[in-house]
Amino acid sequence: MMRTFTISLCVAFAWSASLAAAEELTDVSAGEGSGDIAGAGQPQEIDELQAGECLQCHLTTEDGVGELWRDDVHARWGITCVTCHGGDETQPDKELSKRPGTGYRGALTALEDVELCGGCHGDVEYMKERKPLLPVDQLQKYWTSEHGKLLNKGETRVATCVSCHHAHGIREINDAKSPVYAVNVPATCAGCHADADYMSDFDIKTDQYAEYVESVHGKALLEKNDVRGAPACNDCHGNHGAAPPSVDAITNICGACHSYNADLFLGSPLAPAFKERSLADCVACHGKHEITHTSEEWVGAKPGSTCGKCHEQGDEGAELALYFVDSMSSVRQSFDEIHELLTEAETKGMDVTEAEDYVEAARQGLMQARTLVHSFSKPVMEEKLVEISENQAAALEAGYAALRGLEDRRRGLLVSTVLLLVLTIFVALKIRSLPPTS
Ligand code: HEC
Ligand code: HEC
Ligand code: HEC
Ligand code: HEC
Ligand code: HEC
Ligand code: HEC
Ligand code: HEC
Ligand code: HEC
Ligand code: HEC
Repeated sequence: MMRTFTISLCVAFAWSASLAAAEELTDVSAGEGSGDIAGAGQPQEIDELQAGECLQCHLTTEDGVGELWRDDVHARWGITCVTCHGGDETQPDKELSKRPGTGYRGALTALEDVELCGGCHGDVEYMKERKPLLPVDQLQKYWTSEHGKLLNKGETRVATCVSCHHAHGIREINDAKSPVYAVNVPATCAGCHADADYMSDFDIKTDQYAEYVESVHGKALLEKNDVRGAPACNDCHGNHGAAPPSVDAITNICGACHSYNADLFLGSPLAPAFKERSLADCVACHGKHEITHTSEEWVGAKPGSTCGKCHEQGDEGAELALYFVDSMSSVRQSFDEIHELLTEAETKGMDVTEAEDYVEAARQGLMQARTLVHSFSKPVMEEKLVEISENQAAALEAGYAALRGLEDRRRGLLVSTVLLLVLTIFVALKIRSLPPTS
């Protein structure tokens, strides 16, 4: 016990020394020298005594920080109040514990936050000994983000490590209570980005969150709880490199999940045309925060439809759009015809399983055709549409066969009824012709 206590004291001094050094550096190497902070190796049982009088008193103060520390991932590594704030944790008296000469630095400024958190988290040696699989690039990426660039220029209202992770009660990122757990991210960003007052000095819209919650992605994440599949803000903007994605990066960002759409698009004649004109690949047609489900109305060259935004009647793009609309809608109509036929057969008690298998295959094909729009190629689409029609024809064929089966069965029933009747008459006659028994 005494030993860990002494260690933590030494550690505190080593840390304040490294912080003092860090203050002079504003670059990534701020964490140099933090390799000997708080015992490496294994995480420990949380030892409240280590946090000393700071904790004891702050368990009773209004800020509630003492309670939060108990739930903090850092506590199990012996990272205590003095590690981050300096001061003398052996002193039960407030003033004495923070007296000059103890390295006490009070609450930290935005820049100090970033250097403090980034100092340990960017220190490869330090993190390797403790949580080797945890990335160590947060600070480096942060400086490339719009947040980091502005902080570097002295703007302190941007997000720092603490805005997104809090300063106390820090949890693992996959803990459902963490502010950066997928379903909590949109609200964490919205804390600033949807606050028109807070953002009023910045020349930037504040509608991202409002649009996102109504989008297909927002609904999938926040209503269907699709934590693994649906993108939160950081899936498109990066965790630490938050910047509006450059036009070139968008296909990759959307393509991380919609890879086939991205591959098709990149192979299409639109890709080079978009690049030349700096049009944002997926976003030019789908939007960014307000992305919705698409529908058949999407394809088309009428004013207001997707293709009509950029193409005029008669040009090559509009011609292809027209082909997409006509061919896909005729395929859709065939589904109605098949449906009618199969319903009739089914209500008459016939087995239509075989026909339904073909319908299912054709429906899958139509889903694929919607994706194949992104090839912007008539031959590619044609091939799929032929396949769909073949399946639809097979379904019709099977449906009619089922109805023919019904005819056969009816005919069979008539024959056996007649036979039965004949037999009955025959038996009746036979019975009548028998001599009476005595
Ligand atoms: C006897 C109670 C007590 C002790 C011991 C104590 N604090 Fe505090 N601390 C407070 C109170 C109360 C405040 C609220 C501001 C004030 O009244 O000065 C505070 C404020 C703070 C602040 C906010 C910034 C500031 O200076 O106002 C920090 C950071 C802090 N304490 C850290 C520590 C650390 C680190 C230790 C141990 C080295 C410690 N405290 C020991 C009672 C205490
Ligand atoms: C991992 C580093 C770290 C640890 C450990 C830590 N703090 Fe802090 N603390 C910070 C940072 C960073 C801030 C500044 C937050 C900001 O910029 O909003 C802060 C702010 C504070 C404040 C100002 C008010 C507030 O709620 O933000 C108090 C009080 C405080 N800390 C007390 C403590 C006490 C007491 C402990 C130990 C029980 C402790 N801190 C442990 C990093 C830490
Ligand atoms: C704009 C919000 C934001 C800021 C600023 C921010 N983070 Fe993060 N951080 C996140 C998100 C979001 C995640 C990832 C969550 C996920 O992957 O599920 C994350 C993940 C992490 C992780 C887990 C490992 C990893 O990289 O995925 C660490 C450690 C971390 N951040 C530390 C920091 C440090 C240190 C800073 C300051 C230099 C910082 N963060 C600044 C939002 C932020
Ligand atoms: C003294 C070094 C040190 C400082 C300072 C520090 N951290 Fe950490 N941090 C660690 C270590 C070690 C871990 C691994 C804890 C564990 O999970 O066992 C960690 C874990 C984390 C995690 C959890 C990552 C995960 O999902 O496993 C986050 C988030 C985080 N820190 C953010 C911060 C922020 C924000 C600050 C600044 C307020 C900060 N850290 C300051 C050393 C530090
Ligand atoms: C503490 C408040 C705060 C939080 C939290 C915050 N941001 Fe920011 N963010 C800002 C400010 C302020 C700017 C600077 C606005 C500007 O660019 O002029 C900014 C800029 C940005 C930009 C660059 C915008 C542009 O076009 O210049 C992006 C992208 C961004 N933030 C995304 C995010 C994401 C994603 C999250 C959540 C993971 C987040 N932010 C959390 C305050 C915040
Ligand atoms: C599906 C991907 C995606 C998601 C999810 C997403 N964004 Fe964006 N965001 C983008 C793209 C793409 C741009 C830039 C478009 C452009 O170049 O015009 C952008 C731009 C921004 C900007 C710059 C200003 C603006 O409106 O153009 C901010 C700020 C921003 N997003 C914040 C957020 C926040 C906050 C969230 C979560 C509530 C979020 N984004 C979710 C893709 C996304
Ligand atoms: C030139 C306009 C345009 C561009 C660029 C575009 N799309 Fe589409 N996208 C459409 C149209 C039109 C549909 C509607 C097809 C339908 O529903 O019948 C669609 C449908 C979709 C669908 C739903 C159908 C499916 O495949 O599951 C997704 C997902 C999609 N697009 C993603 C993307 C991605 C990712 C990119 C960027 C690589 C992109 N789109 C680029 C026009 C475009
Ligand atoms: C992290 C994965 C991920 C990223 C990144 C992503 N999406 Fe999605 N997207 C999904 C999921 C999952 C769904 C299905 C949501 C649902 O229907 O519940 C979806 C649905 C869609 C749909 C509606 C599909 C339909 O069936 O009508 C479109 C369009 C779309 N995304 C376009 C985009 C575009 C454009 C981008 C880039 C700006 C993008 N997505 C980025 C995962 C992602
Ligand atoms: C954001 C604007 C935009 C939208 C929306 C758009 N296109 Fe285009 N498209 C272009 C541009 C720009 C070109 C290149 C025209 C040129 O080279 O003259 C192009 C070219 C084409 C070409 C190739 C023509 C050629 O000259 O090789 C086809 C085919 C095409 N588009 C089909 C479509 C279809 C189908 C849609 C709707 C699903 C669509 N486009 C939506 C901008 C757009």
